[in-house]
Amino acid sequence: MKEQLEKIEAKAKQELVSCSEIKALDELRVRYLGKKGELTAILKQMGSLSPEERPVIGQLANKVRADIEEALSSRLAALKSEAQAAKIREEAIDITLPGKKISYGKFHPLTKVENEIREIFMGMGFDIADGPEIDDDYHVFEALNLPPDHPARDTQDTFYIAGTNEKILLRTQTSSVQVHVMENRKPPIRIISPGRVFRSDAVDATHSPLFHQIEGLVVDKGITMSDLKGTLETLMKKIYGNECSLRFRPHHFPFTEPSCEVDISCFNCGGKGCSMCKDEGYIELLGAGMVHPKVLENCGIDSNIYSGFAFGIGLERTVMGRYDINDLRLFYENDVRFLEQF
Ligand code: DAH
Repeated sequence: MKEQLEKIEAKAKQELVSCSEIKALDELRVRYLGKKGELTAILKQMGSLSPEERPVIGQLANKVRADIEEALSSRLAALKSEAQAAKIREEAIDITLPGKKISYGKFHPLTKVENEIREIFMGMGFDIADGPEIDDDYHVFEALNLPPDHPARDTQDTFYIAGTNEKILLRTQTSSVQVHVMENRKPPIRIISPGRVFRSDAVDATHSPLFHQIEGLVVDKGITMSDLKGTLETLMKKIYGNECSLRFRPHHFPFTEPSCEVDISCFNCGGKGCSMCKDEGYIELLGAGMVHPKVLENCGIDSNIYSGFAFGIGLERTVMGRYDINDLRLFYENDVRFLEQF
């Protein structure tokens, strides 16, 4: 019986070593240690042993059982850790592979410069005002001192909304926001209003039926032309750098008196004269002036107490000068090769 037990132990251990699956290990356990297992079968024969032999064989049988149990559990532990190591190997992420690149969008150059201009004006204490793109004749023209037959209307031919007897239209200038603001607020007023404007112009390198303006309006006691000059010079030096200089030229706008056009020293030649500025040394940037007393009165503001200045900047032109862009159509074609450059 002793040899039988020793044989079982040796056989079990040998089989264990070659067992490479957890399930097969379990079958081994049942085969050797289970109720109908080989070891149990031998123990059942213990009755036939002599009283002296019985404790010796009993002890040996217990030892064999314990040995097999231990061998089983250490093999199980080994198989489990092997399986885990294999799983880790399998699921490993190769962090040396470059990741997928997410490409972020960018601001359109018009938006970028508009945001910059907003920031500059907010730094000077201006609010941002909004106004309707579809407006009435009164706010776009009449309140701004452009009565129905005024010749200056011809320069801003617009899109009228059908069936409204030419009373409702797409605004041709953000100056209409001046009127809305002055109707709704009392001075002191200090606003800019960036927005889209529309004119029935044919498309070419410098014209588009849709473009952008930034209107500015300041109304308070004692506002003079020098406030206008200081404000615009601060703005332009922040956009174009300290070297640029501004030139104020007399002009006419119906809603300002006096009126001026403001030119900036040529970005290309710095004022000497080149093909970009057509040998002028300066490039026209915006219209401005002191708010016409009639406009103040139309909006219920006493022109004997208050005065103000206003200006209208063409955003496209400003961005073209800033980045040396020679064709306005590029802004609206959505060609990423163009847009990616800003
Ligand atoms: N609205 C004018 C235009 O579209 C630009 C302009 C000129 C605006 C003078 C003003 C201003 O506020 O004072 O041509």
